[in-house]
Amino acid sequence: MPKKQRKKTSRRSRLSQNSRTLEETRSQLAAIVEFSDDAIIGKTLDGIITSWNFGAEKIYGYTSKEILGRSVSTLIPPECTDEVPQILKKIKRGEHIDNYETVRKRKDGKQIDVSLTISPIKDAAGNITGASTIARNITEQKKADKTLRENEHALQERVKELTCLYSLAKLIERPEISLEEILEGIAKLLPPAWLYPEIAAARITLDEHSYSTPNFRDEEQKQSADIVVAGELRGSVEVVYLKKTLELDEGPFLREERSLIDAIAREVALIVERKQTEEDKERLQEQLRHADRLATIGQLSAGIAHELNEPIGSILGFAQLVKKYPELSEQTIQDIEKITKASLHAREIVKKLMLFARQMPPQKIRVNLNHVIEEGLYFLESRCVKEGIKVARSLSPNLPEIIADSAQMTQVLVNIAVNAIQAMPGGGKLTIRTNASDRFVSLIVEDTGVGMSKKVVKQVFLPFFTTKDVGQGTGLGLPVVHGIVTSHGGSINVDSKVGQGTKFEIQFPIAEPQGKKERG
Ligand SMILES: Nc1ncnc2c1ncn2[C@@H]1O[C@H](COP(=O)(O)OP(=O)(O)OP(=O)(O)O)[C@@H](O)[C@H]1O
Ligand SMILES: [Mg+2]
Repeated sequence: MPKKQRKKTSRRSRLSQNSRTLEETRSQLAAIVEFSDDAIIGKTLDGIITSWNFGAEKIYGYTSKEILGRSVSTLIPPECTDEVPQILKKIKRGEHIDNYETVRKRKDGKQIDVSLTISPIKDAAGNITGASTIARNITEQKKADKTLRENEHALQERVKELTCLYSLAKLIERPEISLEEILEGIAKLLPPAWLYPEIAAARITLDEHSYSTPNFRDEEQKQSADIVVAGELRGSVEVVYLKKTLELDEGPFLREERSLIDAIAREVALIVERKQTEEDKERLQEQLRHADRLATIGQLSAGIAHELNEPIGSILGFAQLVKKYPELSEQTIQDIEKITKASLHAREIVKKLMLFARQMPPQKIRVNLNHVIEEGLYFLESRCVKEGIKVARSLSPNLPEIIADSAQMTQVLVNIAVNAIQAMPGGGKLTIRTNASDRFVSLIVEDTGVGMSKKVVKQVFLPFFTTKDVGQGTGLGLPVVHGIVTSHGGSINVDSKVGQGTKFEIQFPIAEPQGKKERG
């Protein structure tokens, strides 16, 4: 073979070799594209699908036969239709779009989350003739991400709740903390435990008192739980959102927040119950101390009264004797008068002391309190008129009877009414009422006088406690009343406001009906 011809043959064979390799590479690439797990789709600049691999078939559910020649909008859910023109515009400008996350629609109508990478396709001359899209189905990944985020969120919420409960436990552990301080503290602990702490506000209401965060106001978006103490509804725990938020499990609130607010309300109820038991115990102890003091003073006074009774009697007797002497000077007579007056006053005190110490045995019979009042007032009314005091009485008709010593009942009324009169030096109104419930008869004496401070109210039943000048009061009136009332199985209550007046309410148990007693 001539040299020239040999050269030609070898070039041809090299060329065909090259084109074979190119062909092989191309078909290899085509196979890779065809069997990729990602959807690889070709489309024209008008969005007409021109190629469709096996991955696309798997992801979208259409076979290439079904989809080729159709518009990409077939794959796009209505809410995303705006995307297509924007994407195509970018492609026409020669730009790439990387990892664009969006939603697409499968043949069966189901929506899937996809991540798209879109690149322009150029012809040999470099003109952009279409676009290739690689779509990866990220639905599962998104779902997993969402679950992870939700779990993380739930965990954060749990931590907030536990922090709230832990801080609450720490708060109530503090010694000497009052119920008010606890409730105020709890109100402050609540907002941080809710989903949107920055717009949450809380309020705890207990028996007409409320304790709230400063920003609290009543809102529509509210979660609340009742505070029930020993079966009785006493108040509520409330959490509000001050701005509108998304609807969740219970309005804008989470299911867990319902459990938390219920738990807090139960905890508050327990705290209230515990505090009340403590207070009751304290009050009982105070009553015992009081009773003890009264008993001791009672014994003491009984002794003193006895001892004083005789010498006072002698002073009075001898004073009368001396007065009978003839030719006494005016001055001496006046002095003897003073001795007599002072002794009478002393005897009066002794009498009260003996009454207080229950030295005079009571004679208990069936008594209608209304009659006692009518009789007692007969003596008091003229004094009231003199002092410019109006007396109003409102006596319940058909008042049930009580078992009582009527002289002592008069003593009770007179002591309280005299105090009331003394409390209204410039005149006023004295109201005396009776009424009955199914178990008790009440006597209420109300005045519009000077009233008492809390400190004075606390001491009025203590023997010898008086705010009156020497000679004006001995401080035995109310202890005597207290002694009489308790010995009759009754109770006495004072309500007073400085400058407004005072109300005494006494309750006595109703006597059993006569017939019943006789039969029994
Ligand atoms: N209606 C009232 N208004 C204002 N203060 C009252 C009233 N009743 C009682 N007090 C106060 O209670 C104190 C004690 O009353 P209490 O009747 O025991 O003694 P007293 O009136 O001072 O003396 P006594 O009754 O022995 O003459 C009084 O000194 C007074 O300060
Ligand atoms: Mg008095």
